[in-house]
Amino acid sequence: MKTQWHEKYSLHVESIDNQHKELFRLTALIESLDEKTTKVEIKNILNSLFAYMRDHFKDEENYMKNIGYPLLKTHHILHQEIIKEFTNLIKENHSLESLKEQMKIATKKWLIDHILENDLKIEKWRRANS
Ligand SMILES: [Fe+2]
Repeated sequence: MKTQWHEKYSLHVESIDNQHKELFRLTALIESLDEKTTKVEIKNILNSLFAYMRDHFKDEENYMKNIGYPLLKTHHILHQEIIKEFTNLIKENHSLESLKEQMKIATKKWLIDHILENDLKIEKWRRANS
Protein backbone atom coordinates (compact mmCIF):
# COMPACT_ATOMS: atom_id res chain seq x y z
CA MET A 1 0.00 0.00 0.00
CA LYS A 2 1.10 3.47 -0.84
CA THR A 3 0.34 4.81 2.63
CA GLN A 4 3.13 2.83 4.21
CA TRP A 5 6.55 4.44 4.43
CA HIS A 6 9.27 2.48 2.70
CA GLU A 7 13.05 2.69 2.72
CA LYS A 8 12.95 3.60 -0.96
CA TYR A 9 11.25 6.90 0.03
CA SER A 10 14.21 7.85 2.18
CA LEU A 11 15.88 11.23 1.76
CA HIS A 12 18.76 9.91 3.85
CA VAL A 13 18.24 12.58 6.46
CA GLU A 14 17.02 11.00 9.67
CA SER A 15 14.96 13.92 10.95
CA ILE A 16 13.15 14.42 7.62
CA ASP A 17 12.57 10.68 7.21
CA ASN A 18 11.09 10.49 10.69
CA GLN A 19 8.74 13.36 9.89
CA HIS A 20 7.69 11.65 6.67
CA LYS A 21 7.06 8.43 8.60
CA GLU A 22 4.79 10.36 10.96
CA LEU A 23 2.92 11.89 8.02
CA PHE A 24 2.41 8.43 6.55
CA ARG A 25 1.16 7.25 9.95
CA LEU A 26 -1.32 10.13 10.20
CA THR A 27 -2.49 9.46 6.64
CA ALA A 28 -3.09 5.80 7.47
CA LEU A 29 -4.99 6.92 10.57
CA ILE A 30 -7.17 9.18 8.45
CA GLU A 31 -7.75 6.35 6.00
CA SER A 32 -9.08 4.22 8.83
CA LEU A 33 -11.72 6.76 9.91
CA ASP A 34 -15.17 5.25 9.81
CA GLU A 35 -18.76 6.04 10.69
CA LYS A 36 -17.94 5.92 14.41
CA THR A 37 -15.46 8.78 14.19
CA THR A 38 -16.90 12.00 15.60
CA LYS A 39 -16.48 15.51 14.25
CA VAL A 40 -14.46 16.52 17.33
CA GLU A 41 -12.03 13.62 16.79
CA ILE A 42 -11.65 14.57 13.16
CA LYS A 43 -11.01 18.20 13.92
CA ASN A 44 -8.35 17.15 16.45
CA ILE A 45 -6.60 14.90 13.94
CA LEU A 46 -6.79 17.61 11.30
CA ASN A 47 -5.39 20.24 13.65
CA SER A 48 -2.44 18.10 14.74
CA LEU A 49 -1.76 17.06 11.16
CA PHE A 50 -1.82 20.69 10.14
CA ALA A 51 0.59 21.81 12.87
CA TYR A 52 2.93 18.91 12.16
CA MET A 53 2.89 19.59 8.45
CA ARG A 54 3.83 23.24 8.89
CA ASP A 55 6.84 22.37 11.07
CA HIS A 56 7.89 19.67 8.67
CA PHE A 57 7.73 21.95 5.63
CA LYS A 58 9.89 24.49 7.43
CA ASP A 59 12.50 21.83 8.26
CA GLU A 60 12.42 20.41 4.75
CA GLU A 61 12.89 23.86 3.23
CA ASN A 62 15.86 24.51 5.52
CA TYR A 63 17.35 21.24 4.37
CA MET A 64 16.89 22.17 0.69
CA LYS A 65 18.50 25.53 1.40
CA ASN A 66 21.46 23.89 3.15
CA ILE A 67 22.22 21.57 0.25
CA GLY A 68 21.69 24.32 -2.34
CA TYR A 69 18.71 22.61 -3.98
CA PRO A 70 17.88 24.64 -7.11
CA LEU A 71 14.11 23.99 -7.04
CA LEU A 72 13.62 25.32 -3.51
CA LYS A 73 11.36 28.19 -4.62
CA THR A 74 9.08 25.93 -6.66
CA HIS A 75 8.97 23.43 -3.83
CA HIS A 76 8.15 26.17 -1.33
CA ILE A 77 5.17 27.18 -3.49
CA LEU A 78 3.96 23.56 -3.51
CA HIS A 79 4.13 23.53 0.28
CA GLN A 80 2.12 26.74 0.43
CA GLU A 81 -0.52 25.19 -1.83
CA ILE A 82 -0.80 22.19 0.46
CA ILE A 83 -1.24 24.45 3.50
CA LYS A 84 -3.91 26.37 1.59
CA GLU A 85 -5.78 23.17 0.69
CA PHE A 86 -5.84 22.03 4.31
CA THR A 87 -6.78 25.49 5.58
CA ASN A 88 -9.76 25.49 3.21
CA LEU A 89 -10.72 22.03 4.35
CA ILE A 90 -10.73 23.13 7.98
CA LYS A 91 -12.67 26.31 7.20
CA GLU A 92 -15.30 24.81 4.91
CA ASN A 93 -18.41 23.62 6.61
CA HIS A 94 -18.45 19.99 5.51
CA SER A 95 -20.88 17.40 6.72
CA LEU A 96 -19.21 14.74 8.85
CA GLU A 97 -19.16 12.16 6.03
CA SER A 98 -17.92 14.60 3.45
CA LEU A 99 -15.19 15.87 5.79
CA LYS A 100 -13.89 12.30 6.24
CA GLU A 101 -13.90 11.70 2.49
CA GLN A 102 -12.23 15.02 1.75
CA MET A 103 -9.54 14.33 4.34
CA LYS A 104 -8.78 10.95 2.82
CA ILE A 105 -8.44 12.48 -0.60
CA ALA A 106 -6.43 15.47 0.64
CA THR A 107 -3.86 13.51 2.65
CA LYS A 108 -3.27 11.10 -0.24
CA LYS A 109 -3.10 13.71 -2.92
CA TRP A 110 -1.44 16.53 -1.05
CA LEU A 111 0.87 14.66 1.28
CA ILE A 112 1.73 11.22 0.01
CA ASP A 113 1.84 12.11 -3.66
CA HIS A 114 3.86 15.19 -2.79
CA ILE A 115 6.41 13.14 -0.86
CA LEU A 116 6.66 10.49 -3.56
CA GLU A 117 6.94 12.93 -6.42
CA ASN A 118 8.51 16.12 -5.23
CA ASP A 119 10.43 15.21 -2.10
CA LEU A 120 12.10 12.31 -3.86
CA LYS A 121 13.30 14.76 -6.51
CA ILE A 122 15.39 16.43 -3.79
CA GLU A 123 17.14 13.16 -3.07
CA LYS A 124 17.67 12.40 -6.77
CA TRP A 125 19.24 15.83 -7.23
CA ARG A 126 21.43 15.41 -4.12
CA ARG A 127 22.73 12.05 -5.34
CA ALA A 128 23.50 13.40 -8.78
CA ASN A 129 25.27 16.44 -7.35
CA SER A 130 27.33 15.13 -4.46
FE1 LIG B 1 8.08 18.69 0.35
